[in-house]
Amino acid sequence: MSSLKQEIAKRRTFGIISHPDAGKTTLTEKLLLFGGAIQEAGAVKSNKIKKTATSDFMEIERQRGISVATSVMGFDYKSKKINILDTPGHQDFAEDTYRTLTAVDSVIVVIDVAKGVETQTEKLVEVCRMRNTPIIVFINKLDREGKDAFDLLDEIESKLGLNICPLSWPIGMGQRFKGVYNLWEKQLKLYTEVNKQKIANSIEIENIEDPKMAEMVGDEAAATLVEELGLLQGVYDDFDRDTYLAGNLSPVFFGSALNNFGVQELLDCFIEIAPPPQPKDANGVMVKPDEDFFSGFVFKIHANMDPKHRDRLAFMKIVSGTFERNKNYKHTRIGKSMKFSNPTAFMASKKSVVDQAFPGDIIGLHDTGNFRIGDSVSEGPDLEFKGIPSFSPEHFRFINNADPMKAKQLNKGIDQLMDEGVAQLFTLESNNRKIIGTVGALQYEVIQYRLEHEYGAKCSYENYPAYKACWIESSDEAQLEEFSKLKYRYLARDKFDRLVFLADSSFSLSMAREKFDKIQFHFKSEF
Ligand code: G4P
Repeated sequence: MSSLKQEIAKRRTFGIISHPDAGKTTLTEKLLLFGGAIQEAGAVKSNKIKKTATSDFMEIERQRGISVATSVMGFDYKSKKINILDTPGHQDFAEDTYRTLTAVDSVIVVIDVAKGVETQTEKLVEVCRMRNTPIIVFINKLDREGKDAFDLLDEIESKLGLNICPLSWPIGMGQRFKGVYNLWEKQLKLYTEVNKQKIANSIEIENIEDPKMAEMVGDEAAATLVEELGLLQGVYDDFDRDTYLAGNLSPVFFGSALNNFGVQELLDCFIEIAPPPQPKDANGVMVKPDEDFFSGFVFKIHANMDPKHRDRLAFMKIVSGTFERNKNYKHTRIGKSMKFSNPTAFMASKKSVVDQAFPGDIIGLHDTGNFRIGDSVSEGPDLEFKGIPSFSPEHFRFINNADPMKAKQLNKGIDQLMDEGVAQLFTLESNNRKIIGTVGALQYEVIQYRLEHEYGAKCSYENYPAYKACWIESSDEAQLEEFSKLKYRYLARDKFDRLVFLADSSFSLSMAREKFDKIQFHFKSEF
C-alpha cells in the first residue's frame, strides 16, 4: 500500500452531537483520556455558552476562546489517528454545527437515558441523515434512573428515523445498575468495579445462559437479561457494517460517560467499524481521498480575539492527496495561488505547525480575509466542493450604520463576519438595505460587539418582520418575472447573489406557493 493510502486508512474523523447536557463534553474527555491525549479528568472545558452569556460579552469572548481550543481534538488510539470535531450545543450556534457536520465522516449521538430524544438531537440527526452520515448512538447516564431501554429504542427509531441495532445492553439502571453486556465482543462488564479512575475489567461470556452470568449479576438480573436479549433478537436486525456505512443502520451502546463506563467498548467498536475519510462531491465529480493531488475545503473560520492581530484561522478538511507546507495551491473561488507557511494541526488542546497533512485531517490556516466558509483549495483541477448548507434564519433585522464616519469599517466588518458564517446577509432588491438573518437572538449582540471591538464600527438594528427566507428558482422565466413584480418589496439577494424571497407570514408563503406553481421555494440554500 502506498504511504498515502496507509495514512488514509488510519484516519477516523467524526463529530459528537447531542442536546446540551446529555454528556457530550464528558464523553469527549473520556475518549481523550483513552488516547492519552490528556492526563486527567476536567481538562476539556465545556464550550457551552451558558444562558447568562446573553448579556455578558466578555463571557461570550472567553467562551469563544475555549471553543477554538476545543474545535478539533486529535489523538492516537490503537494505531488509528482520530479527530473529534467539536460542535456547539447551544441552539443559537446550530449553523456552526451543521457546517462542521459537512467535515465529518461519521458521528456519535449522545442521548440522556432519562430525557430521551430531545429537540436539538432531532435537528442534528436530520442533517446527518440528509448526507447519509453513519451514526452510532450512545445512551448515557445509566447510573441514574431513566426510561426503559426498549421504550428508548422505540423513541430513537420513531423520532430520529433511525434503523437501530443494539450492540450493548444494560443490566438494570440507576440504583440497580449492574453493568452492560457487550453484544459486539460477547463480554460482560460489571459496574460494581467502577471507580472513576479505574476502567472495569471485562468478563468474557460467550453464551449468555452460562451460569457465570448469574454468579456475577444475580439470578434475577441474569434471567431478565436472557429474556431481554431474546426479545432483541426478534426485533432488531444483526449488525451489518455495509448497512451502517451507508447510513442505514445505527449501532446503539449504553453506558455512563461520567463513570467512564461503556466508553471503551464504544471506542473499540468505533475504530473497527467507523469509516475512514470519504470521497466528496465537487461539481458533480467525486473526489477520492487517494487522488494524486491535494484538495480541501474550509468549513469554519475563527476570528482572532486579539484586536491587534486581525488574522483569522480557517479550518480546512483535507479531502484528497497530501497537503504540504509552503507549497503553492489554488484558491479556486478567487483563482489565486496561495501557500501556507504555518499551517496548524490540532492534537487535543495543543496546536502545532505541521509540514504535511492527509485526508481526514483538519488543519488551521492563518488567513487575512481571503477565505469564506465553503471555499476550496486544490493542487489539481478547479474544484468547488459541494456547498455547505445555509438554512432559513429565524430572526431578521435591518442593520443600520450608527456612525456615519465609519461606513467603510462597518461594511468591511459585516462582510468578514458573514464570511465567517456568524449570520446571513440579505440585501433588499428595492432599496439595497441590509438585513441580517440569524438562528438565535444572541448573534445580534455578538455582531454588534465584534463590529465595535474588531472593526471600530457602530451599528443599530431595526426589526424586519419576515417569517422565513426562501431561496427561489424556476425554469419558467415568465412566471418568475410575474412573481418578482408582485413581490418586489420582499425580494433580496444573499451573499452569493442568489434570489431570496423574504416571506412575511406562513400564510403569504403558502399563497405564493399555490399561485406560482412553477417556482421552487427552498428553505435551505444547498439544492
Ligand atoms: P454536554 O457537553 O452534552 O452539554 O454535557 P456535559 O458533558 O457537560 O454533561 C452535562 C452534565 O451531565 C454534567 O453535570 C455532567 O457531569 C453530567 N454527566 C455526564 N455524563 C454523566 C453520567 O454518565 N452520569 C451522570 N450521573 N451524570 C453525567 P453538571 O452538573 O451540569 O456539570 P459539572 O458541574 O458536573 O461539570
